[in-house]
Amino acid sequence: MSLKAASLALLTGIVTLSLLGLGNAQTPTAPQGSTPQSYRPGLGDLMTMTVQPRHTKLGLAGQEKNWIYAAYELHELEESFERIVRVWPTYRKTNIAELMAATTKEPMDAVSQAIKSADAARFNDAYGRLTATCNACHQSTERPFVVIQAPKASPFPDQDFRPVKP
Ligand code: HEC
Repeated sequence: MSLKAASLALLTGIVTLSLLGLGNAQTPTAPQGSTPQSYRPGLGDLMTMTVQPRHTKLGLAGQEKNWIYAAYELHELEESFERIVRVWPTYRKTNIAELMAATTKEPMDAVSQAIKSADAARFNDAYGRLTATCNACHQSTERPFVVIQAPKASPFPDQDFRPVKP
């Protein structure tokens, strides 16, 4: 092997080694035996992401007397509550599962009845009571400053909440 060829081989080796080293440095290595952590949104995150928009949309549906959509949205809100209980059965020292059932079940049933009878006055009353339970729960979990009210306007400019005309 000529000197030139030998030094070329050496150089190639060095380049290959450093590339491998670089490759190693860039690959994030998980500790042995650890499984990737699944994302667990905070209770406040879930309230903001799922409960709050559903509560808003349910209110807007009622204001428009869009009963088919209101029934759908009430069901979505119910599922949001169920998922929260699954992710956060207890929060700090509070049993969220029990508190959720104790506070929301009765007004949710009342909203459902009002929707079934297409009764706007009953809906407003039941929706008001549902909103009051949001706040009752916030008060009993040391979040009295989170105050929920019936929506005064739609924050969803791309959605029409009026009933679909046949
Ligand atoms: C079972 C108790 C409970 C019920 C019922 C409940 N919440 Fe909450 N909510 C909480 C707790 C506790 C927090 C604070 C979570 C935190 O700080 O991480 C919270 C936080 C929130 C927040 C986040 C505050 C912010 O501005 O960032 C919103 C929004 C919210 N709730 C909306 C609602 C609405 C709307 C309802 C009713 C449809 C409702 N909540 C019903 C317990 C409840």
